[in-house]
Amino acid sequence: PPLYIITPTYRRPEQLAELTRMSHTLMLVPNLIWLVIEDAYGTNSLVEDILRRSGIRYHYMIAPMPVQYKNKTKGPRPRGVSNRNKGLEWIRENTYNGVLYFADDDNTYDLDLFNEIRYTKSVSMFPVGLITKAGVSSPIVRNGTFRGFYDGWIGGRKFAVDMAGFAVSVQFLLSRPQASMPFKPGFEEDGFLKSLAPFEPFEAELLASKCTRILVWHTQAKKNEPAWPLDYTRYNNTNLIALKN
Ligand code: UGA
Ligand code: MN
Repeated sequence: PPLYIITPTYRRPEQLAELTRMSHTLMLVPNLIWLVIEDAYGTNSLVEDILRRSGIRYHYMIAPMPVQYKNKTKGPRPRGVSNRNKGLEWIRENTYNGVLYFADDDNTYDLDLFNEIRYTKSVSMFPVGLITKAGVSSPIVRNGTFRGFYDGWIGGRKFAVDMAGFAVSVQFLLSRPQASMPFKPGFEEDGFLKSLAPFEPFEAELLASKCTRILVWHTQAKKNEPAWPLDYTRYNNTNLIALKN
């Protein structure tokens, strides 16, 4: 079955580096369709170049964050939500089987992950390595059965999982026509998995050797000020003379 990888992205200093790194992982995975959705009002030819040069089957789309969230001055924003809902919509309109996975552009993926999730029958779950003190976000498994969730922040969630910690079969998604991701910071995963009802945490297919292997890492680049305005369409070597100190 084909794998549909839904990747939200947005313009920032590390974007092209992250997408280069991620494309070089996905190039090694057979039968994969990469849905790259940018939080922007237009596409970016530098992003498109990376996608085209990878040779991966891809669809590059845009889905801007609604302005009421974009303009928020305090508190967290629902990052990547309009992007992921656009990806879900594309899957509903264009596919009938396979498996979908939400893969943020800045995480680190072990190739074994794709072999594991490809045979997801309904919803599968597995550990995500964290670079924070919690170390990992994972289903807790005892004697082969689900016992709860371990995460640095449980927050009263029914599904205390990381965005990178689950995959869903396309047929299962199509059998839930209302399923989507809410614009609710911190509760995107929980809200999406709840929208797949009827579905309970204990029904998750436990992958990665019963959740004993870490096959995906929630990595993050250090945030930096852009060196020059990001609306430059192309870094232009001739402007370096003006920047020389
Ligand atoms: C964590 C979760 O893994 C995200 O899925 C979740 O959306 C986010 O927290 C949240 O709750 O806000 P984190 O690493 O903190 O992720 O967030 P980012 O990596 O900054 O963003 C998640 C994804 O959305 C990335 O693929 C990023 O490229 C994209 N994004 C981020 C946008 O499309 N627009 C933005 O303004 C920010
Ligand atoms: Mn991230």
